[in-house]
Amino acid sequence: MSSPSSLFRLDGKVAVLTGASRGIGEAMATAFASQGAKVVLASRKLADLQAVCDRITAAGGTALPIACHVGKSAEIAAMIDAAIAAFGQVDVLVNNAATNPYFGPLVDTPDAAFDKTFEVNVKGYFAAAREVIRHLQRRGAPGSIINVASVAGLRAAPFQGCYGMTKAAIISMTQTLATEVGGAGIRINAIAPGLVETRFAQALIQNDAVHQHIVSRTPLGRHAQPSELVGAALFLASDASSYMNGHTLVLDGGMTIA
Ligand SMILES: NC(=O)c1ccc[n+]([C@@H]2O[C@H](COP(=O)([O-])OP(=O)(O)OC[C@H]3O[C@@H](n4cnc5c(N)ncnc54)[C@H](OP(=O)(O)O)[C@@H]3O)[C@@H](O)[C@H]2O)c1
Repeated sequence: MSSPSSLFRLDGKVAVLTGASRGIGEAMATAFASQGAKVVLASRKLADLQAVCDRITAAGGTALPIACHVGKSAEIAAMIDAAIAAFGQVDVLVNNAATNPYFGPLVDTPDAAFDKTFEVNVKGYFAAAREVIRHLQRRGAPGSIINVASVAGLRAAPFQGCYGMTKAAIISMTQTLATEVGGAGIRINAIAPGLVETRFAQALIQNDAVHQHIVSRTPLGRHAQPSELVGAALFLASDASSYMNGHTLVLDGGMTIA
């Protein structure tokens, strides 16, 4: 067991983070690198990943950018293979890249938007988890998988219904995988953020009525910054959470209990 001062360190670990080119994924990747992990940064646009990689490297960390569309299982498998080829192993996966192409009543969701949302947010998370679990099982190694869900998966998500369905699916997947592979020391947990200031949430934050509606129901009286999710991610990735498995940490300023 680590000493209390090193509980959150990730020295010797390799962490793959999807959606690491900006927002929540970038904040988590930067924090993981600062705690000693070698980080593999995945998203579709290599140039954006390279910029994050350069910042991490300049701060003394180790990072590798890999272009990967997480809606395509073959690209995920190739990305995990490339991570293993570069660093010898993968110990931590953060499934974070997600999409929300449709805003409106659930019954009016176009089929194409429904399929895309499930392809990226559910199949993509599952495919990455499957690759990393199989790799950990081959090594006989423990590991930690963190699925970024959302409060939209915990309760009704008006105008974001399909997105909410995918996030509920992720929480279910987290619980089932945790029961299936926990015996091998592979822990699977989720994080459910409330409103966080990123490009993804720009439309909600810039719409005064929607923003006010959310903030007025949030006991902390404000939305979050990506840096405020970093502590939970470090907790779940590290030995600090060695006995936590299958759960969802809700970081929403108290919105879902108010
Ligand atoms: N912001 C919020 O209020 C909020 C609240 C609850 C949950 N979340 C969750 O937090 C996670 C991160 O969101 P964020 O707010 O940080 O969004 P963001 O700033 O827009 O970042 C999204 C990241 O995902 C990548 N990405 C998008 N589609 C992808 C695809 N098909 N394949 C690979 N990468 C893809 C983007 O890079 P490329 O464009 O280069 O691919 C980018 O790196 C998501 O799971 C989201 O559901 C966000």
